[in-house]
Amino acid sequence: MCGIVGYTGPRAAPETLIGNLRRLEYRGYDSAGIAVVVDGSLQSLKLPGKVQTLADRVAVEWTGTPAEGSRCGIAHTRWATHGPPTEANAHPHFDASGRLALVHNGIIDNYADLRRQLEARGHVFRSDTDTEVLAHLLGSLGFADDPIGALCAALRQVEGTLGIAIVHADRPGRIWVARRGSPIVIGVGEAETLVASDAAAIVAHTNRVIYLDDDDIAELSAGSIEVRTAHNTPVSRTVSQVDWDVRAAEKGGFEHFMLKEIFEQPESLENSMRGRLDPAAGTAKLGGLAMTPREIADVRRVVLVACGTSLHAGMVGRLYFEDLADLPAAVEQAAEFRYRNPILSPRDLVVAISQSGETADTLAAVREARQKGAALCGICNVVGSTIARETGRGVYLHAGPEIGVASTKAFTSQVAVLLMMALKFGRCRRLSREAGTEIIEQVHALPGLVRRVLELNERVARAAASLADARDAFYIGRGLLYPVALEGALKLKEISYLHAEGYHAAELKHGPIALLDPSVPVVALALDVPGRDKMIGNIQECRARGAPVIAVVTEGETTIGGIAQETIELPRCAPLVSPVVAAVAMQLLAYHVARLRGCEIDQPRNLAKSVTVE
Ligand code: G6P
Repeated sequence: MCGIVGYTGPRAAPETLIGNLRRLEYRGYDSAGIAVVVDGSLQSLKLPGKVQTLADRVAVEWTGTPAEGSRCGIAHTRWATHGPPTEANAHPHFDASGRLALVHNGIIDNYADLRRQLEARGHVFRSDTDTEVLAHLLGSLGFADDPIGALCAALRQVEGTLGIAIVHADRPGRIWVARRGSPIVIGVGEAETLVASDAAAIVAHTNRVIYLDDDDIAELSAGSIEVRTAHNTPVSRTVSQVDWDVRAAEKGGFEHFMLKEIFEQPESLENSMRGRLDPAAGTAKLGGLAMTPREIADVRRVVLVACGTSLHAGMVGRLYFEDLADLPAAVEQAAEFRYRNPILSPRDLVVAISQSGETADTLAAVREARQKGAALCGICNVVGSTIARETGRGVYLHAGPEIGVASTKAFTSQVAVLLMMALKFGRCRRLSREAGTEIIEQVHALPGLVRRVLELNERVARAAASLADARDAFYIGRGLLYPVALEGALKLKEISYLHAEGYHAAELKHGPIALLDPSVPVVALALDVPGRDKMIGNIQECRARGAPVIAVVTEGETTIGGIAQETIELPRCAPLVSPVVAAVAMQLLAYHVARLRGCEIDQPRNLAKSVTVE
């Protein structure tokens, strides 16, 4: 969703800001803007459309002017919430004096009330946004004379979420930032200071970063970083090291980030597993979980909360916990969680699964679970993200930055982490050491199995041709492969705009089968794992209605080959790891369909990488 960058230092701010803004394009956005401080005034440009359009305008209008050489500024990519993507609604927004410029991620919930109050005092607004209200509020609170005092006062008045960066014409070389619920990362450079809503924007300059806490305010210059709480008390925040470099956030020769990330999975899975498997004890070592065997044995129920692809990983995880740990497990759509009355107790462990660690609905579910006294933990990819911090303990994926909007490597790492977690829980409960060691062997085999699926890239690309012209498609599966059917259909929808539905293979006959005809292909996940025999019957049902079937089978499968239109043969694998093996093939399939249909794969329309609104 929205992205923030800021820069103060010896280099030209416009060029640096736009370069860094490009690294946030992957998050999904519809407008872009920039403001720099020049000779005691502000210069700004904003527009609906791409960062490249902004860069072109900057080149035309600022080259040869003082703005070109400005050393301090902020920039933004906006994903529209309050008001359509227009120039007026794009960030930065300004206070009444026009001397304060502000970029904002998040939502000011009480903006309408604040706007009415400010309008009554003569403020005139030019946009539909909640952000402009915040800019005017800060100006009216005396930011020009006392920036920190105004920020503290504003934080007391606003409700909602914010990550903000501000520059002021009267104070060249300075940037102010604040966060509440929306991330702000400060990059500590050599005689320069950078700001971003996401470390990916600044790793090209420095890997030393400070993650602000909620309700932190900071005043930055090229050589100083002063952090305060919203009560105006100075605090020190630790400088962390980002453990990946700029190459991880670049395409590295691949046509798309998505393809690169699909192909990274043998390594990302290895990174998720590294040092976490103990074959001798037949268990997993997950230090970040910070739970004693006694505490694990005391858990009565696991509740997995997540959205989107992470929700599908949770559905696989649920089966793992039931199967390996004899533990009742539920998967909950995070968006609904706090609007129901979830029955939770301290012996329920709520596991929040989120690649970004910033998804608003998942975060809200975490807060609801805490409120109800449940035990909490997180499975996140982004280190230092809000969900990782608010859950206080958990397991990081260590999958590296995921840039493609359609999640791929995060899904397979989530499944691997859930499997390791269920294994650990199982070993604290009823699972024998021998059974544990056997599962570890299966987990260890995963990177190699995924490598073999990736070797089938060309084969999958050919199969994609039979889907590319369809208008509708179904994905069906059973057991552990049912969530993968949902995920396969989601991948296809996200990037190829082809209408696809994931269904339990047995549910198809309770309605959707009415839609099948020769123009509606069915992707059937029919690996040689429990459920295969029933899948054969389900495939027959589809064929009887004339639907072309692309069956995903285990190598050496003979029966299904005779029934399905096409078969994609995947390497033989243990049932527990089959969701990962099948998911990689589904990712490739969606990728190739989208490519054949000429879609914009890394930044699909209307989608955002990190959904920070409910
Ligand atoms: C967005 C992304 C999806 C992702 C979902 C949940 O919709 O486009 O790819 O699965 O959010 O995100 P999270 O970061 O919480 O896993």
